[in-house]
Amino acid sequence: MLPEGGFMMKSPAKINLSLRILGRRADGFHELDTVFQEIDLCDEIEFYPAEEWCFRADGADLGPDQDNLVVRAARALSAYANVPCKARIFLRKTIPTGGGLGGGSSNASVTFHGLCRLWNLDVEWERLQELAAELGSDCPFFVYGGMARGRGRGEKLELYDGSLSGTVVAVFPGFGVNTRKAFSECEFDLTEHDKNVIFTAYLGEEEGTYILLEDCVNDLENIVLRVHPMLRELRDELSRLGADVSLLSGSGSTVFGVFRESSAARRAAQQLRERFTVYICRMVGRQRRAELR
Ligand code: C5P
Repeated sequence: MLPEGGFMMKSPAKINLSLRILGRRADGFHELDTVFQEIDLCDEIEFYPAEEWCFRADGADLGPDQDNLVVRAARALSAYANVPCKARIFLRKTIPTGGGLGGGSSNASVTFHGLCRLWNLDVEWERLQELAAELGSDCPFFVYGGMARGRGRGEKLELYDGSLSGTVVAVFPGFGVNTRKAFSECEFDLTEHDKNVIFTAYLGEEEGTYILLEDCVNDLENIVLRVHPMLRELRDELSRLGADVSLLSGSGSTVFGVFRESSAARRAAQQLRERFTVYICRMVGRQRRAELR
């Protein structure tokens, strides 16, 4: 039982089922076409009413509080809504940091929702999406969660209903990859708008479910797998172990496999567990995201 007035929210990770880079932009960012998919690997964030600001985190080596996306989200919302930034927040990390799983971005957007509830604010989700875009390219997606196509920097969203079936085996190799550095090593001309997101799915047996097909591409793999050849081996090992799709998530370092059969996913996870941190996850549709909250 949480103390009076307190509540906990789950903050799910994501994988990129596909990530195409269309080109470098004048503002230094890259134009993307990607498909985000939430998975049920979650951090937990507890919110309590308080007369001052207090933030505590454990479970990961997170760096200074002022850089934490929970703190930055709280400040941004308090300034936007013109309310004092008073709350007690406790972040319990499970999602590895620097792994391309969007943990910090998810924490930021869940903090928006948590503080709207704690401070009794009725802010439209479109406004939260705009505030989130100032914190990071992946943050707007986590305002909605589930599955969505992201264009622009990743902040222009097209939300997908329904959910994908299949089991995700996400493998964290024990080190992180610097996203800025990975993007800066991309060898793309200014814009090349003819690439389309490659992502094929077909209707599953249950209504509203989809099954992922092969053909998933992550353009950052060219760079990241060259620098870290063991990630290529890991990706290929997931395929050998029966994954229908295996791919780097975002800029990595996490590599994931999607398995149609959960028994094959469990066998693959068992094989990899001796050497890596392995998570067996389900994909979270927008419907289910609401239940996590
Ligand atoms: O937006 P975010 O802070 O998550 O991005 C981290 C870094 O990744 C940016 O500073 C930028 O170098 C790179 N990036 C990019 N194009 C994007 C998203 C991120 O070049 N669409």
